[in-house]
Amino acid sequence: MANQILLLTTFLAMTCSLVVAFEPSPLQDFCVADATSSATRVNGLPCLDSKLATAEHFFFSGLHIPGNTSNPVGGKVTPVNVAQIPGLNTLGISLARIDYAPMGVIPPHTHPRATEILTVLEGSLDVGFVTSNPDNKLISKVLNKGDAFVFPVGLIHYQKNVGTGMAVSLSSLSSQNPGVNTIANAVFGSNPPISEDVLAKSFQVDKSVITSIQAKF
Ligand SMILES: *[C@@H]1O[C@H](CO)[C@@H](O)[C@H](O)[C@H]1NC(C)=O
Repeated sequence: MANQILLLTTFLAMTCSLVVAFEPSPLQDFCVADATSSATRVNGLPCLDSKLATAEHFFFSGLHIPGNTSNPVGGKVTPVNVAQIPGLNTLGISLARIDYAPMGVIPPHTHPRATEILTVLEGSLDVGFVTSNPDNKLISKVLNKGDAFVFPVGLIHYQKNVGTGMAVSLSSLSSQNPGVNTIANAVFGSNPPISEDVLAKSFQVDKSVITSIQAKF
C-alpha cells in the first residue's frame, strides 16, 4: 500500500512538473522586450527596466486597416506579436488579422509554438488542419461570420476564402512569438535549396516538376 502511494505520488509529481516545464508562468508583472539590450540569450527577449515601461510598450494601432492581398496567394497576415508589442514578451499570447481576396488562401503552414483560435469577422472561410502521422486525417469546416475554429499547436493548417467578397479573420495565438513554417516555402524555397534528388524521391515525381515548383519560390 505504502509503495502504491509512493508510486502515485511520484507519478503525479512527474506529470505536474512536465506541465510546468512546458511554459513557465512569468515571475514578474511583465518583461517589456528591450531590443537594445545586450546579446544575452534568455527564453524570450531581455527585459526593459520596469520603471521605464509606458503604455506605448503594451499598445498597437492599426488592426482596422485591411492587409494588401495583391500577392500570388491572395491572403495577407498582419501580425501583432512581441515584434509589434514589446510588452507581450514572456506573456504567451498574440494576435493576427488576416485578409483574404476572393478565392485567396493562407497556404498550409504550422506554428511551432502556438495553438491558434481563429474568428471570422467578415465573409466565409474553408479552414482545416491535418493530424500527425500515421493518420493524417483532415479536419475541416466552412466558417461564416462569427464562427471560431481551433488549430492545435504544431499541426499543418490552411484557410481559404470561399465567399463572394473579401473575408477577414482575427486569430489569437498562445505564444508571444508563435513562429510560422509555411510548408511550400520551407520545402521548395529553402536557402540553399534542398537537393532535387531528395525532393523528387520524397514527392515521387520527376525532377522537372520539382524544378518548376522551386522556380515559384
Ligand atoms: C499592394 O501590393 C501590390 C503588390 O505589391 C502593390 O503593387 C500595390 O501598390 C499595393 N497596394 C497598396 C494599396 O498598397
